[in-house]
Amino acid sequence: MPPRRMAMLETPRIPRRSRYIPAMAEAFNDITLSADKATRYAEVADEIASVLDGETNLTARMATVASMLANSFDHYFWTGFYVVDPAKPRELVVGPYQGTLGCLRIAFGRGVCGAAAETGQTQLVADVHAFPGHIACDSRSQSEVVVPVFDPEGQLIAVLDVDSDKPAAFDETDQVWLEKILKATFA
Ligand code: SME
Repeated sequence: MPPRRMAMLETPRIPRRSRYIPAMAEAFNDITLSADKATRYAEVADEIASVLDGETNLTARMATVASMLANSFDHYFWTGFYVVDPAKPRELVVGPYQGTLGCLRIAFGRGVCGAAAETGQTQLVADVHAFPGHIACDSRSQSEVVVPVFDPEGQLIAVLDVDSDKPAAFDETDQVWLEKILKATFA
């Protein structure tokens, strides 16, 4: 084979920014993320931005965020979006998620998701059984964090619900990073 042809068949060397290979959905499934939670969130945030670069479809964006987060953190048991129903503006309807069967609809003001939608504030709940009106879609859920999702105009479009089967599984680090990721992805 002539030398020029051989050179074309060589695998190109991809420079690495850090010890994990960034971007591309296939590569993400194989990467090793840092053990430290905040560092891991920072890595996942970068990966989400890379994978979604150029993708405008909202369902694709939500499905990708749910999958990448759910597959990056062991303390996540149920991870998904409840979106504001355009036909019923004070009602959430289940969107893309990872986990066991979720409830289909949640009214604003009901349970943890409804409280996040009603107030526009993140709800960090250490013990779901102590939360008034908590909706138990899966009785194994013990704690959760629910973060409102806003569009570029500041309109509420959804909430991200992350549940754990362990009590008090979420803290301010989860809250800060989830808020950051959702702002970067949807606002
Ligand atoms: N945790 C929610 C209900 C949704 S499911 O757990 C998937 C709530 O009380 O708002």
